[in-house]
Amino acid sequence: MVGVNYMLIATVLLISTTVIIPMVDAIPAVFVFGDSILDVGNNNFLPGNRSKANHPFYGVDYPGRVATGRFSNGYNGADFLSMLVGFKQSPPPFLSVTRTRVEEMVGGLNYASGGSGILDVTGENASLSLNTQIEYLEKTVKTLKKCMGSDKAARHMSKSIFILSTGNNDIFGFFEAQNGEKINSTQKDQYINLLLSTLKTQLQRMHKLGARKLVIVGSTTIGCVPAFRAVTPTGACLEDLNDLSLRYNNGTVKLLDKLISSRALKGMRYSHANVFAMLSDVISDPSSFGYAKVDTACCGGGRLNAAESCTVNATLCTNRNDYLFWDSVHPTQVAADLVATNAFNGSRRYTTPINIQELVTL
Ligand SMILES: *[C@@H]1O[C@H](CO)[C@@H](O)[C@H](O)[C@H]1NC(C)=O
Ligand SMILES: *[C@@H]1O[C@H](CO)[C@@H](O)[C@H](O)[C@H]1NC(C)=O
Ligand SMILES: *[C@@H]1O[C@H](CO)[C@@H](O)[C@H](O)[C@H]1NC(C)=O
Ligand SMILES: *[C@@H]1O[C@H](CO)[C@@H](O)[C@H](O)[C@H]1NC(C)=O
Ligand SMILES: *[C@@H]1O[C@H](CO)[C@@H](O)[C@H](O)[C@H]1NC(C)=O
Repeated sequence: MVGVNYMLIATVLLISTTVIIPMVDAIPAVFVFGDSILDVGNNNFLPGNRSKANHPFYGVDYPGRVATGRFSNGYNGADFLSMLVGFKQSPPPFLSVTRTRVEEMVGGLNYASGGSGILDVTGENASLSLNTQIEYLEKTVKTLKKCMGSDKAARHMSKSIFILSTGNNDIFGFFEAQNGEKINSTQKDQYINLLLSTLKTQLQRMHKLGARKLVIVGSTTIGCVPAFRAVTPTGACLEDLNDLSLRYNNGTVKLLDKLISSRALKGMRYSHANVFAMLSDVISDPSSFGYAKVDTACCGGGRLNAAESCTVNATLCTNRNDYLFWDSVHPTQVAADLVATNAFNGSRRYTTPINIQELVTL
């Protein structure tokens, strides 16, 4: 008996080492979708000057101190998540590549666009809507199929990681449209249901194009971003926004489970990163996570340094690593790193039903 048990343990150990190490290397590509949390420069290619991070002090901690279009002082979540699955940084912005050159897209592409949301009206005229991003994915898949053949392209897509961060800007938009009027729970549910039914169609389109390993970056503690704290008399979080964010995250997980069990997303596996729980934990006990400031923007001006934009004339904090927020709404590089690391191999408090490390080894 003892011998048998020992054999079992030895076999399990052998399997787990032989599985984990080569499979991480086998992620052929990363495809990134959504909003400014993950945008690495698509918005620089859009007309006008709204929703752009193409000027100092953006990028002050990025290699070469360049403002790339990332809404961060340095790398963002798309970079850290890509690094964790074996890449140097995020794949390039879709709008920066030559659409027909397969070598530029074989490691994946980033379609994310600051200001965008699930609904087309969110960020209209200043960003690529999620529907447009998925149309661009369709173009990419066409090119890959042409160059690799259909079977190889399908295998390539099925092993790749698809990362999506959305919902935050839709919730902002809904809240702002109320003009300070009280929002009751029926109205909240109606709006969240509209978001989820739209998202459902979008996920099905991505699945049809070959996505099988999905990372959903959940919406954040929106009510606690410095921009919203700055409009409350005490600098407290706006609870209606946090409540909407919780409802959206709960609904997303339920939707995914339902679609997968009904086989509407056959073969899809997902990892949902509970950014809301991560940031709630940091905000309730900043020092244990190494932060000194969780309510104030590092780059900006006015109340909580969040009433003015982050430009070359803004007030810039000296120790960026002490801050959770870089500008009035976006996380610092260190905060993006923390979120990505917890999404990658965090506990079930932070990722459901599995973390990214488990997702990539499937
Ligand atoms: C953005 O463009 C508008 C319209 O062209 C202009 O009025 C505004 O000054 C510009 N803002 C910046 C920060 O360049
Ligand atoms: C919520 O607000 C809407 C719009 O003002 C109203 O029609 C509805 O009766 C309210 N529902 C509840 C449950 O209070
Ligand atoms: C979301 O789900 C959690 C856990 O199931 C629950 O505690 C929480 O009340 C839910 N929140 C909302 C707003 O539905
Ligand atoms: C920064 O300040 C200078 C000097 O006052 C001014 O000319 C410039 O337009 C400002 N730039 C921005 C982006 O606000
Ligand atoms: C999680 O990943 C980080 C970054 O690669 C690493 O430093 C840490 O040791 C990992 N933790 C576990 C429990 O695997």
